[in-house]
Formats: sequence, structure tokens, C-alpha cells
Amino acid sequence: MRFDHNIMIHINNLSYRYPDGTLTLEGVDISIDRGEFVAIMGPNGCGKTTLVRHLNALLMPTAGSVSVFGMDTKDMSKVWNIRQTVGMVFQNPQTQFVGTTLEEDVAFGPENLGLPQNEIRKRVDRALLEVRLMEYKTHAPKTLSGGQMQRAAIAGVLAMEPECIVFDEVTSMLDPESRQMILDTIQQLHQSGKTIIYVTQRIEEILPLADRIVSMQDGRIEFMGTPHEYLASVGSHVPAITSLMRKLKEKGFDVRDDVFAVDDAFLEIIKACRMVEKENIDDE
Ligand SMILES: Nc1ncnc2c1ncn2[C@@H]1O[C@H](COP(=O)(O)OP(=O)(O)OP(=O)(O)O)[C@@H](O)[C@H]1O
Ligand SMILES: [Mg+2]
Repeated sequence: MRFDHNIMIHINNLSYRYPDGTLTLEGVDISIDRGEFVAIMGPNGCGKTTLVRHLNALLMPTAGSVSVFGMDTKDMSKVWNIRQTVGMVFQNPQTQFVGTTLEEDVAFGPENLGLPQNEIRKRVDRALLEVRLMEYKTHAPKTLSGGQMQRAAIAGVLAMEPECIVFDEVTSMLDPESRQMILDTIQQLHQSGKTIIYVTQRIEEILPLADRIVSMQDGRIEFMGTPHEYLASVGSHVPAITSLMRKLKEKGFDVRDDVFAVDDAFLEIIKACRMVEKENIDDE
């Protein structure tokens, strides 16, 4: 097969069985383009983490295949290259720190790549700037707040300069403000050209950002499509803002009911206000 440089990740008929016999993934097919932002959703235990751990060869398929830029994850000679291409950030950053200061911690990855000292310093500074933690450079990672720790973990991955970053429920332990800060950082990374794979159970945080939604159920893909298509398919489990639009529509207002971004909702509410004004004039 000829390798298409626009395809970042190709998952072909992937099944995975844990050593204890639990079949966790079955017949999963996904192709992710370079620069795409894909959200992976689904209930606890449906296989999201198991799926993304295949993307940088932390797990190997029981059946089917996973390739990154055409490199098969089963090819042992490619594992190093694959791990440099796909970086991973997990839910509990505490378990990922290795350095005594933040700066040392972020430098750990590039040091392992054997890069020259000045290049390492450049990468560490750039990564800390991107996650807005420069002033904490000399602090110990364990003294940071939850949100800062998560951003520090992201900086550690950024310093490796991967083309693709996987975020596995990274905001689930955070307060709304820290969560927003992480989401802003991820959006910037996407805008700068990185491929983003974002695992979450929070539909409202991801719909405005993702190009595509993959929804899983019991180890299989249940839905794959744009955020608008997703909303049309889910029925009741929609963000509050969509629910509000649907209620307005039920009341007879001619508004869109597939809206999930505040800006779009704003335009629809203005439309509804005009209708109310017109009705008031007609009544007089
Ligand atoms: N090491 C393991 N050994 C055996 N079974 C496992 C192992 N890790 C996970 N599983 C099982 O595989 C299934 C999928 O787990 P996974 O962690 O991939 O789901 P998830 O969608 O990420 O869930 P969550 O939303 O809770 O993070 C679950 O039934 C889980 O119990
Ligand atoms: Mg998980």
C-alpha cells in the first residue's frame, strides 16, 4: 500500500484482548488526518484508554493493525520513532513527573533524545511559555496546583515536539477555570498545526473544538461524524445550550436546534428576540 502523507493514524479492524481474556476493542476502524482534531467519547469502561494506548505502541493489537505515518506499531524498529511522533498526556499528572524542578522535568524527554544543551534549553522555554508556566520554572512539580501540574505534563510532551498529541481525560480532575486554560492551550496547539486526539466524557467542552467526534460503546465505534451530526444523533444527552435552543423551538421560535457554541446561540437568541418584538408590534 502506498503511504499517504496526509494520513496521520490509520486504525484498521483493531481488536484487543487483555491478558486476562477481557475483550475490550472489537473491529475498530478510524483514519485520522494530519492536523485533524478528533474527540473520542463514550461511557466509563467502553475502551477509550485502551484504544489510545495503541496509538503510541503502549499496547499491540490482538487483531488488526495500527499505523502512524505508515509505520506499523508492531514493527519494533519503529517504536522509538512512533513515540516521538505521538505524545500522550494522561488523567493523573502526578504519576508522570521525574524531575526535582519543573525545568528539569520538562528537559527529561529532550535529554533522552540526546539533543545538544542549547536545543534542550530552547525547547524547555518554548514549552513552558506555551502552557504559561514560565515563572514556575524552578519550582518542584509536586508543589504545583492540579491545573498547573496538568499543564506541566503537557509541557513535558511538547518539549518532545510530537506531531500528534493524545489527551486522555486530562480535564476530568480540574476546576472549571483550570479546565478552560487547558482547553485554550489545546486549541492553540491545534491551530499551530498539531494533530489532536482528545478523549473526554464532557460533550459540551469538546463540540466547539473538534473537527470530528468518535463515540464508542462496548469496545466498538457507535458513531463517527461532525459535531453537528453528533448532536443530531444523540437525542437527549446534549449540552445545556442546545437544550435551551430545542426548548425555544418547541415554543414555536424559528431557531436552529443544532447549536452548541455560545456565539451561535447568541445569534439565534437575537433572532428569537426579533420574533418577540414583531409579535408585540402585531398585537398592538
Ligand atoms: N489491564 C487490564 N486488564 C484487564 N481488563 C482491563 C485492563 N484495563 C482495562 N480493562 C478493561 O477494559 C475495558 C475498557 O477499559 P478502558 O480503561 O479502556 O475504558 P475507558 O473508556 O478508558 O474508561 P474510563 O472512562 O473509565 O477511563 C473495561 O472493561 C476495563 O475493565
Ligand atoms: Mg480511560
